[in-house]
Amino acid sequence: MTDKAWRYPLSDIAYGAAERDAVLRVLHSRWLTMGPEVEAFESEFAQAHNIAHAVMVTSGTAALELALDALSLRPGDEVIVPALTFVATANAVVRRGGVPIFADIESCARPFLCVDDVRRRLTPRTRAFIAVHYGGACADIVGLSALARDHDVAWLEDAAHVPGASGLGASAAACFSFYGNKNLVTGEGGMIATNRADIADRVRRLRTHGLTRRSIDAARGSVDAYDVLEHGTNARPSEIQAALGRAQLSKLAAHTDRRRAARARYVARLKDDVVIPAVGLETVAHLQTVLVPAERRDEVRTALHAAGVQTSVHYPCVHQLAAYAGVARAACPNAVRYAAQTITLPLHPGLTTDDVDTISNALRDAIAHVGAGR
Ligand SMILES: Cc1ncc(COP(=O)(O)O)c(C=O)c1O
Repeated sequence: MTDKAWRYPLSDIAYGAAERDAVLRVLHSRWLTMGPEVEAFESEFAQAHNIAHAVMVTSGTAALELALDALSLRPGDEVIVPALTFVATANAVVRRGGVPIFADIESCARPFLCVDDVRRRLTPRTRAFIAVHYGGACADIVGLSALARDHDVAWLEDAAHVPGASGLGASAAACFSFYGNKNLVTGEGGMIATNRADIADRVRRLRTHGLTRRSIDAARGSVDAYDVLEHGTNARPSEIQAALGRAQLSKLAAHTDRRRAARARYVARLKDDVVIPAVGLETVAHLQTVLVPAERRDEVRTALHAAGVQTSVHYPCVHQLAAYAGVARAACPNAVRYAAQTITLPLHPGLTTDDVDTISNALRDAIAHVGAGR
């Protein structure tokens, strides 16, 4: 997502000849909707993550919504979500008729759903919780799995930030996003990866209206009549998205290495100037966040913008957004503190060592200018 106005955009797609060839291959095939490219991407993605099944859908949000459907969420069921996440995690719960219950993150150093806080918020109405693998590092998968097992609740992984990570799939389903700023980009797109055949079958059906067959089956002449087993939707990805996904997946390890190297350089350059969350925990390095004193955060960002460095905030706390004004406002002090202090710096595979050094210097200058050091 290159905006020419920024010398250093937050993210940038790493596309080349493989992606161009992939799109042309689809155009030449004359089959644009869900078909062989989707099938191939799903099986390559499942294999790359060592998870039994992968089902591609139109977005990370669709992945979350269909995964909640596959858990048979009933109206009024409570689903615990972290206060620190992209709003889609909570919106999916609301849109499937559930009630989001916000829980805190572990700490500013570990901005992941806190196992103890989830335990405190369990009620007889709790149906599930969703953990977010934030910024390219994983939440406490072992602790969350044990909690889910001990209390007989389901859990999902919002894996939008961690394509390529290992150890995923302990939950009922891991939900990925391939949105334009993610580590694996198809423009729009998402994936549900699961070790449970029942969930894979269900989301495969739900993404295409609940039908018992796909259009490609009819086109191939293998099946004609169909039944509709439940009320599904249209979350079918296109062949172009899947072909882009395959090209991107083949480069994912190399891109991840470049992201990790850029992040390591940031940490080396900035560790004495700012607090850097999740150091040493980054499995695939999606975001480069730093924490500065809350009262100076916006001034530091303004100074960085003036230097041509795009920044962002991942994320404002969801329970403080207007759409959630009616939801019981749980105290989530760590998430609130984190959200007030965090700044996201550019991180993408095209970032050079010189770029990281220049951005780091700009951040140091900005801090010196507004007096926001640690
Ligand atoms: C943590 C998180 N969850 C969910 C989503 C939703 O994914 P999508 O934009 O593909 O619907 C995103 C990304 O946008 C995200 O960052």
